[in-house]
Amino acid sequence: MDNELFRRYGHEFVDWLADYMVNVENLPVMSRLNPGEIKARIPAEAPQRGESMDRIFDDFKTIILPGMTHWQHPGWHAYFPANNSPASVLAELLTAGLGAQGMVWQTSPAAAELEDAVLEWLRKMLGLPEGMAGVIQDTASTATLCALLSAREKATDFESNEKGLKRGLTVYASEETHSSIEKGVKIAGFGRANLRLIPTDAEFAMVPEKLEEAIRKDKEQGFQPACVVATLGTTSSTAVDPLRAIGAIARRHGTWLHVDAAYAGTAAVLPEMRWMLDGAEDMDSFVFNPHKWMLTNFDCSAYYVKDPGPLLRTFEVHPEYLKTGVDPYVKNYRDWGIQLGRRFRALKLWFVIRSYGVEGLQAFVREHLRLARLFKSWVEAEPKFELMAPVRFGLVCFRLNDGLDIGTLNRLNKELLDRLNATGKVYLSHTVLNGKFTLRMVIGQRTTAERHVRAAWELIRSISSELLQNK
Ligand SMILES: Cc1ncc(COP(=O)(O)O)c(C=O)c1O
Repeated sequence: MDNELFRRYGHEFVDWLADYMVNVENLPVMSRLNPGEIKARIPAEAPQRGESMDRIFDDFKTIILPGMTHWQHPGWHAYFPANNSPASVLAELLTAGLGAQGMVWQTSPAAAELEDAVLEWLRKMLGLPEGMAGVIQDTASTATLCALLSAREKATDFESNEKGLKRGLTVYASEETHSSIEKGVKIAGFGRANLRLIPTDAEFAMVPEKLEEAIRKDKEQGFQPACVVATLGTTSSTAVDPLRAIGAIARRHGTWLHVDAAYAGTAAVLPEMRWMLDGAEDMDSFVFNPHKWMLTNFDCSAYYVKDPGPLLRTFEVHPEYLKTGVDPYVKNYRDWGIQLGRRFRALKLWFVIRSYGVEGLQAFVREHLRLARLFKSWVEAEPKFELMAPVRFGLVCFRLNDGLDIGTLNRLNKELLDRLNATGKVYLSHTVLNGKFTLRMVIGQRTTAERHVRAAWELIRSISSELLQNK
């Protein structure tokens, strides 16, 4: 493709995307295709000769688009959001066009220094403790793996990097912790059997006394507690583990404290939501995802450490071919995580923060919190529905409950979810809380307004009435 064609299609694609951002509302949120349908339409062999962009783009529209589930749809209420925004999409285009790879400072000083500066902005915007240093990781899963590896090294005085893991190290997280903790524990060599899942209270938050008990028991049995993971905003129900109490226990036993706020961390842009960070001074590391609720398209995860020392000692390597004359004076982010090559993710974050401003981002989050509370009030006002967990952020956990037995209710609620999602107007997901099938209604998409939430509620009520009539 020559430069003029690039220009022409660049304009065309941006036009297409601008239309898509508006028209996505009219597409079914969840793709309706069956497994294998897309692959069946893709030739088994790559083309020998280059094809025209017209043809490729046509195939994008006819083959790929019907197989997309539309995360940017205002009826997106499933999982947690993965919002983009016009500013982040445009920055991503520039990132791709610049095509830089920021493994060391010298390979793109602007990428390294902007990352440093923007993560400092973010630290202040969330009210994280002064002195915490940030780095962008691809995902919270990777950031948590970095935390677990750093905790492992610190617990073994950096010996396991050299000789392999020889001691029985243990990791603690609540029963409601995200699956990325278990994955990280496996990859980091702790062994899944050494992950202790601590019981939760009636609101699904970790019980600190049970954590203390588990650590003591492990110590008595000769294990070395290495890391505690607290979650602010669990995936199933957005429970908030009590950070201050957990931090005191971690400090007393000399373990690393990692805090996973992948989704809910964004809410700390609001001063009135900073209660969740009470006790933050004890955190050794903290992660949240601007790629979830902060309008920065996937992927972009902000990882903070109290002291970069253990992180660097865990990851740094110094092959001759990567040495540069400025190494003592700069941040070479290749040593701040697993990957060597790094995308220029800070650019989109910079564009987003600048184009919305702190106040714009606050207003956006505040509105979602208001809509979630409104939805909650509707659930509470209808006797045939039941709220299943406290509403702390943009997630409402609820179910249909008109007093039937648990088996029938689980079946009816699953049917409700399937029928809702089959309408194409909304997409919700589910979880199980105390053995009860629960619908998760997340309000957090950039374009979701009150009218969408009202329409979703009407749909839920009408399908529920039909289900109860025919039960
Ligand atoms: C609490 C929590 N932690 C971690 C993750 C994983 O995030 P990522 O996809 O960035 O690895 C999620 C994803 O939803 C989450 O809810």
